[in-house]
Amino acid sequence: MASTTAVRVALVGIGGHGQVYVDELLDRPRDTDFTIVGGIDPAPEGCSRLTELRESGVPLFDSLEAFYDSGGEADLVMIVSPIHFHRSQTELALANGASVLCEKPLCATIQDAHSMLAAEEAAAALTGGGPPGSRSRALGIGE
Ligand SMILES: NC(=O)c1ccc[n+]([C@@H]2O[C@H](COP(=O)([O-])OP(=O)(O)OC[C@H]3O[C@@H](n4cnc5c(N)ncnc54)[C@H](O)[C@@H]3O)[C@@H](O)[C@H]2O)c1
Repeated sequence: MASTTAVRVALVGIGGHGQVYVDELLDRPRDTDFTIVGGIDPAPEGCSRLTELRESGVPLFDSLEAFYDSGGEADLVMIVSPIHFHRSQTELALANGASVLCEKPLCATIQDAHSMLAAEEAAAALTGGGPPGSRSRALGIGE
């Protein structure tokens, strides 16, 4: 049954390890507890299920800034981009009211970590991390 409170999920990084997230999102029943509101990647052709995403009507953007500039809204931003983008993308998502699930490692420097924590504390949102082994069903989306 469709939910009126479906979580709006934006996925940042749909190739590489992001493919695991794409698979999880696409292989779960749609219109239940979440909807994919954006696939964000400057090189989306690295995603083996790009055609399926397009056919499903998932909007694609080459940056998280472009997603928000287009008027995009997300409840949850999943960040699976290279490490050096984690801080800026997490802070941008938090500033736009989203909660964040950021792949490990959280960031590259302790300064980035402090900044990200401060951004979380200033936001009405939460962050979580994807630990090694996050392919585990125990950490699966919607469970
Ligand atoms: N939990 C695990 O088991 C596990 C395994 C592998 C990688 N990782 C983590 O996943 C993250 C990504 O690693 P990877 O090896 O897949 O990296 P990668 O270099 O393969 O990039 C992943 C994707 O991000 C895209 N990308 C690049 N710049 C981007 C940007 N500015 N915005 C959005 N997307 C962008 C790339 O085009 C690519 O499709 C890292 O944090 C890494 O540590 C976790």
